[in-house]
Amino acid sequence: MSPQFAATLLLLNLPLVDVNMVGVTATDYQAENCLISQGVVESNHTGYTGSGFVNTDNVTGSYVQCTVSGPATSLSVRYANGTTTNRPMAASQDGTAQGSINLPGTGAWTSWATATVPISIASGTHTVRLTSTTSNGGPNLDRISIDGAVDVINVSTSTQLRSALSTVQPGQTIQLAPGVYHGSFITQRAGTASAPITLSGPRDAVLINDGPAGTAPACPTPTAGWDPGYGLWLANAPYWNLTGFTVAESKKGVVLDNSHHVVIDGLYVHHVDDEAVHFRRSSADGVIRNSRIEYTGLVQPGFGEGVYLGSANSNWSCHGNSGGVDRSDRIQVIGNTIGPLVKAEHIDVKEGTQGGVIRGNTFNGTGISGQNSGDSWVDVKGNNYLLQANVGTFSPPGTFANGYETHNPVSGFGCGNVWRDNRSDLGGVGAYAIRITSTSACSSNPNVVYSSNTVTNARSGLTNITVTP
Ligand code: GCU
Ligand code: CA
Repeated sequence: MSPQFAATLLLLNLPLVDVNMVGVTATDYQAENCLISQGVVESNHTGYTGSGFVNTDNVTGSYVQCTVSGPATSLSVRYANGTTTNRPMAASQDGTAQGSINLPGTGAWTSWATATVPISIASGTHTVRLTSTTSNGGPNLDRISIDGAVDVINVSTSTQLRSALSTVQPGQTIQLAPGVYHGSFITQRAGTASAPITLSGPRDAVLINDGPAGTAPACPTPTAGWDPGYGLWLANAPYWNLTGFTVAESKKGVVLDNSHHVVIDGLYVHHVDDEAVHFRRSSADGVIRNSRIEYTGLVQPGFGEGVYLGSANSNWSCHGNSGGVDRSDRIQVIGNTIGPLVKAEHIDVKEGTQGGVIRGNTFNGTGISGQNSGDSWVDVKGNNYLLQANVGTFSPPGTFANGYETHNPVSGFGCGNVWRDNRSDLGGVGAYAIRITSTSACSSNPNVVYSSNTVTNARSGLTNITVTP
């Protein structure tokens, strides 16, 4: 790239990456075509675009409301104000305030200027309203435009993916082309509730990290010169959607640190050295659904969990960012296919976490190693989880003690969990479908096993506690 071209890109504030960006929106909406409350369409001052402009009534509360197509990151207003007094207007999106725009004098009613404010508009149809906030009303409004948004960042190489992960904006989608992406893939970009960030690809888009490399810090936080070897790492990156692609042949599969409201949908994670998907460091309110996980724990069978919620209390000094406890709470694990050859628990629910849902998953326990207590499909050490309508099977080889177990490594945890409608086939190897380690440890918040759970081929039975009708 020539220095002049690079300088031009810098001036334009465009990323210096070879990424194919499509779907740039810079759409104009003529004010005279929008919904007008307390204002009239006029054309007596020249210089407007379209068929006229809106003369807002000179009262507080007069407004223009346009229906726009997102996403967008900024809102511009073309207006004329022939007075010397600022006529600010409040911007709102779908009724939610988005800040105020100063609209100072433009010198004449025939002199038009543009004012711009940041706005966060997600994909889809939304209303944008500009409301006069002083008794002078707004100025004359010619048009509004929303712009600055790029819908989709298409990537087809590792370099492009790394660049996109470091520059992506709320509301954007990074779209992976089929292919194998080798490298260290981390993002520290945050989406928002109304404009999450999406990383999407087909199943034959495969992320592989050949690491680790460099010297690990005391706690695994993003550190220059250190690659932890994770297939995909979201660090301080809330509101992401991860859909469709594959993560394989990495030390860990997908790791979320302090990244709440992340939705993992339809991923395929397999052949990883340790665990496949880890919600860690208070990555709360996430979802993993419709995903497939198999062949974990290739190097460390005892750390080869399928889905890992929270952290063991021995790791809270690193991962407890909320009062010392890893509060990866309210995670929903729904409709996933986990196993075979998941060497530790299919789902490990750590102490300190609460309120998640584990529903409609299929567990194939063949290959569970028995190492590091990994001898069940699900080990619940957190509180108040609902485990419902999961189907588990086991057939040798493997070490399989029970289908579901509770443990109470931290006092007050491993309690208040509820099992309904689960079907368990223990293959003639497992003792109980649901084994509650201690009822006395949970006397004030007992675990509950409903009679809607069924078991076949158990050595001992459905559960070791009294079944609730
Ligand atoms: C003048 C001008 C109008 C404008 C109005 C105002 O009447 O012609 O276009 O809207 O002032 O102060 O709002
Ligand atoms: Ca007016």
